[in-house]
Amino acid sequence: MTGPEACATFAAVADSQLTEVFSPIRWQGDALELLDQTVLPRRQEWLRCDQPQQVADAIYRLSVRGAPAIGVSAAFGLVLGIDPESSADELKGQFVETRDLLAATRPTAVNLVWALRRGQEVFDRVVGSGADASTVRAALEQWAIAEHRADIEANRRMGEAGATLFERGDRVLTHCNAGALATAGVGTALGVIDASFRAGKVETVWVDETRPLLQGARLTAWELGRLGIPYHVIPDGAAGSLLSRSMVDRIVVGADRIAANGDVANKIGTYTVAVLAERHGVPFYVAAPLSTIDLETPNGEAIPIEERSPDEVTRVFGTQVTPDDAPALNIAFDVTPAELVAGIITEVGVLSPPYGDSISRAFER
Ligand code: MRU
Repeated sequence: MTGPEACATFAAVADSQLTEVFSPIRWQGDALELLDQTVLPRRQEWLRCDQPQQVADAIYRLSVRGAPAIGVSAAFGLVLGIDPESSADELKGQFVETRDLLAATRPTAVNLVWALRRGQEVFDRVVGSGADASTVRAALEQWAIAEHRADIEANRRMGEAGATLFERGDRVLTHCNAGALATAGVGTALGVIDASFRAGKVETVWVDETRPLLQGARLTAWELGRLGIPYHVIPDGAAGSLLSRSMVDRIVVGADRIAANGDVANKIGTYTVAVLAERHGVPFYVAAPLSTIDLETPNGEAIPIEERSPDEVTRVFGTQVTPDDAPALNIAFDVTPAELVAGIITEVGVLSPPYGDSISRAFER
């Protein structure tokens, strides 16, 4: 489905209403509609998924991407996996098949695992009470809708908390896309930038283009333009030069998984930026909801890192840019050690080092 109305809606609303109105994820009761991020910003097309396999394909292809958006989409994928006509005997098999299908799509974004676990809890509870398939589906649907709303609220709170760290005139650098397209709300890192901008603190944003798939150049730039926030796209390799010329005051990025000790997995290239930030004395912040923190992963070494097709490196928009037989390595994420992170901005406030302690306390609240 082609949906220019998506952008029209995005542009037409007042900024303060943006999060309520725009989401790349639309639940229609019998199908999940996803704004296809592989073709943005050139085209705005909505994919209609009424089967879990279509949701899994959309996650794998990066039609929907960004850790929180993947988690919310997977929650709706679980709903689509339940046939309301099925017998009690069939139910469990259906659920497990859908859960495993979705779980196999992307290994690093822990919000996916988190959503599937929470969905399993809902399923077990409702099935345990002797409910029929239609009631189980309805319960999963209510839960998925609640997860979608909770992410919107978490984004808002992260924005509020993060804005306290910013100062008037800040020039902020970000990597990849951690905005509305990557979440259900206004975004994690971009939510913080947006709230800081509305508070009069952000002068401009440096947007790393984020090779190989250009989430920064295509998606973050698209979002910042619609939010009315001044920005420049820069080649990934330019970050060091800008930092050395004192053109960056603050860095804020999202995360795909944060280990219990505060090590952060995020889009490849994030670690490079963090090392440069330390070298130049610029604070490097990570914004992420608690659902991105994985207490069962002790440190960054234990985070599974997704490796994707070399074609994403050797081709740009389908056109081969390397020699035909050039081998390529496509590691999709890297790990930034906790010691390089000045603060983790969450919906319960800004966590400070040592992260082992501050993360534990955040979950106790
Ligand atoms: O491969 P992607 O595009 O899903 O990677 C996304 C990122 O690395 C984002 O920075 C991260 O998920 C933060 S989402 C708010």
